[in-house]
Amino acid sequence: MAAATGMIMLAALAILTPSARGLDRADFPPVFLFGVATSAYQIEGAYLEDGKGLSNWDVFTHTPRRIKDGRNGDIADDHYHRYMEDVEIIHSLGVDSYRFSISWARILPRGQLGGVNSAGIAFYDRLITALLQKGIEPFVTLHHFDMPQELETRYGSWLGAGIREEFGYYADVCFKAFGDRVRFWTTFNEPNLFAKFAYMLGNYPPAHCSPPFGTCNSGNSRREPYVAAHNMLLSHAAAVENYKKNYQATQGGSIGIVIAMKWYEPLTNSTEDILAARRALSFEVDWFLDPIFFGDYPREMCEMLSSNLPKFTSEEKRLLRKNNADFIGLNHYTSIYAKDCISSPCDLETYEGNALVQAVGERDGVTIGKPTAIHGYYDVPEGMELIVKYVNQRYKNTPVYVTENGYSQFSDNSMEDLINDVGRVNYLQGYLTSISSAVRRGANVSGYFVWSLMDNFEWRFGFTVRFGLYHVDFETRERTPKMSGNWYRDFLTGSRPVDQAHTLREDS
Ligand SMILES: *[C@@H]1O[C@H](CO)[C@@H](O)[C@H](O)[C@H]1NC(C)=O
Ligand SMILES: *[C@@H]1O[C@H](CO)[C@@H](O)[C@H](O)[C@H]1NC(C)=O
Repeated sequence: MAAATGMIMLAALAILTPSARGLDRADFPPVFLFGVATSAYQIEGAYLEDGKGLSNWDVFTHTPRRIKDGRNGDIADDHYHRYMEDVEIIHSLGVDSYRFSISWARILPRGQLGGVNSAGIAFYDRLITALLQKGIEPFVTLHHFDMPQELETRYGSWLGAGIREEFGYYADVCFKAFGDRVRFWTTFNEPNLFAKFAYMLGNYPPAHCSPPFGTCNSGNSRREPYVAAHNMLLSHAAAVENYKKNYQATQGGSIGIVIAMKWYEPLTNSTEDILAARRALSFEVDWFLDPIFFGDYPREMCEMLSSNLPKFTSEEKRLLRKNNADFIGLNHYTSIYAKDCISSPCDLETYEGNALVQAVGERDGVTIGKPTAIHGYYDVPEGMELIVKYVNQRYKNTPVYVTENGYSQFSDNSMEDLINDVGRVNYLQGYLTSISSAVRRGANVSGYFVWSLMDNFEWRFGFTVRFGLYHVDFETRERTPKMSGNWYRDFLTGSRPVDQAHTLREDS
């Protein structure tokens, strides 16, 4: 009995090493920006209020069989009405910054055609003012997967070149309206993930794909993701050029882009798998950041995708390079093994398939890390330092903000289990420890945001998974702090009387 207890304690200590070492805010530079993150469609609700137009997600989620639980973001967390309560919660956590996105359809219900919706502007004005009054820095995303449905219909979302001018107009409206108070802008959230989900796998709007990737009404899974990405890259460059030329000097902010980045670990030590891991990173990260920093796509993508990859004109290359990002937003949730598919056949109708790589979660029957509620996402803290180093080394030590990192639980757990989220506490401790280690070794990381402030509408998973530091009851919309919320607050404010996680066992 005593021996068995001893074993459990040791196992728990191994998992809790970071907290045992007493990770705290002083392990990070004084100006390091700590925050929490959300996005408009996932929390706002009020989908038809105060002049807002329908967004692509409003229409998509109202189409049968798109979302796992058949639900939608019509109300979501009702943040549109409860934003003052949410600002109080954000403030109570002791964070420096709040990352949120603007709903394009709330600002421009019909794009350029219909004019600016002043009630939409007024909502974000109130939110920004409330944040600043509490000393919280707004960190604003322009495109977090949602756009006016009218533009999706007109341009196939990001397929038609005309969308670039629309995005430029939208960005300009936002810089003009909010830029006097917003010091951090990002153009796109995870355009790399969005392009594949929307145009390769068909599970985000406009739901395009082609066999063997899936069955959609239209699409070309081998070509359209790259066309959409091309238009997003050129939209990014034009918006940054406008900001730098017309706003940055007077408003004093900075502008970047947020890329979704897994860490790919070779499945074996074979040269083939080592090259496969490198190639997967190239198709995920370099795909967007090489054009932005060097003016063109990585060579291996040009070679392998040939005519499916659009080409930049020399003028566009100049525009891209000249307007590279002030910082890189890095969303990182997991590491995964990369298995080469050139030397041996595998299933290629997948996210990494075009790189001739298969992502696998296990080596010799052992998962790469503790699984989470999202298939293929594991708790692998050391991957954070590796991806940060990769980005720093490749992109001239441009400052990185970790704009998302977080842990998912299945919604169908009991309220008690959801609140006692030891798994999330361990996850956050591990990843923060990995960042502090990277920073100690000279990495240029300037901030960190937990995804997410509170449980919310998780895209195709609906409300079946929860990422929040705060629990949200999706019937009453009541917000309740989880153990992780209290842990983050203690970490940030330095009030860590006892290490609660030590006294509790892992949730399952
Ligand atoms: C790869 O090689 C390293 C160093 O020789 C070794 O530590 C590691 O266990 C090997 N990994 C695999 C998967 O064989
Ligand atoms: C990080 O980037 C900033 C801005 O480019 C630069 O001033 C600073 O020297 C860099 N820090 C490190 C540790 O490289």
